[in-house]
Amino acid sequence: MTEHAGRVYVITGAASGIGAATAAILAASGARIVSVDLRDADVIADLGTLDGRQALSEGVTALVPSGIDAVIACAGVGSEDAVAVAVNYFGMVATLERLRPLLRPSLAPRAVGVASMAAIHPVDDRLVSTMLDGDEPGALSRAARLAEDPGTAGLIYGSTKRAFARWIRRSAPSQAWAAAGIALNAISPGIVLTPMVEGLMRDERWRASLATGAPMPLKGMMPPEVPAHLLAWLVSPQNSHMCGQIVYVDSGADAVLRGDATW
Ligand SMILES: NC(=O)c1ccc[n+]([C@@H]2O[C@H](COP(=O)([O-])OP(=O)(O)OC[C@H]3O[C@@H](n4cnc5c(N)ncnc54)[C@H](O)[C@@H]3O)[C@@H](O)[C@H]2O)c1
Repeated sequence: MTEHAGRVYVITGAASGIGAATAAILAASGARIVSVDLRDADVIADLGTLDGRQALSEGVTALVPSGIDAVIACAGVGSEDAVAVAVNYFGMVATLERLRPLLRPSLAPRAVGVASMAAIHPVDDRLVSTMLDGDEPGALSRAARLAEDPGTAGLIYGSTKRAFARWIRRSAPSQAWAAAGIALNAISPGIVLTPMVEGLMRDERWRASLATGAPMPLKGMMPPEVPAHLLAWLVSPQNSHMCGQIVYVDSGADAVLRGDATW
């Protein structure tokens, strides 16, 4: 028996990469997994769309009407475009908000999202604030404009992750989450060897940007099991008091880039 035995966890993006590794670890620990993805999942939903977010709520509720113990919002894309805004910010926030009522019956409810080390990279402040205002059409159109210019396109992914990390900081200590007994946190991985990164690795400019954007003094790039074990602990009953933290599992990149200004 493990601390996860008998618990029910919803994992988005469970068909690949970090989500798949997390699902495997937690299922092997005795948890029931409800997987959500575009394909190969219990609930098929495109979280970048309103219809897909509705399919998420309806599909999960139909499968586990008596409630769940945790949500792991992992589904995301690595692109620098409006789709990243729709999936990485609005899809992730919608996942956490829409599934929150299902956490009510749990004795140890937990929620966690996957941000990124890119949250500390340069961002477009207007795009970030438009996302935090909840203005999805405005954010999509801002991202589409940024994507047209090679000088600004590279700001979009980091902006989605910065906005998500700030949403976590704002939301976690609130009535809806902490006062309801739900521990809400996020992780910010460095470079994880998943299909998302395998695609980016083919881009020479992306590889060249790693040395400055992603210094990794502790062992370099990591397999998906590394952030997966952290996610598993964050949804365990043992994580009783962590609230609103963005945990960097990034081989030291945050410590190098932000130094001792952040503690
Ligand atoms: N790989 C990295 O280096 C890295 C680093 C930091 C953060 N992240 C974040 O980790 C998360 C998982 O990424 P990964 O590296 O495992 O990538 P991945 O491509 O291996 O897996 C992502 C999964 O999300 C699903 N997905 C994508 N769009 C979706 C949508 N609209 N609706 C539902 N599901 C959708 C995909 O189908 C896929 O199964 C993402 O949020 C990503 O931004 C990854």
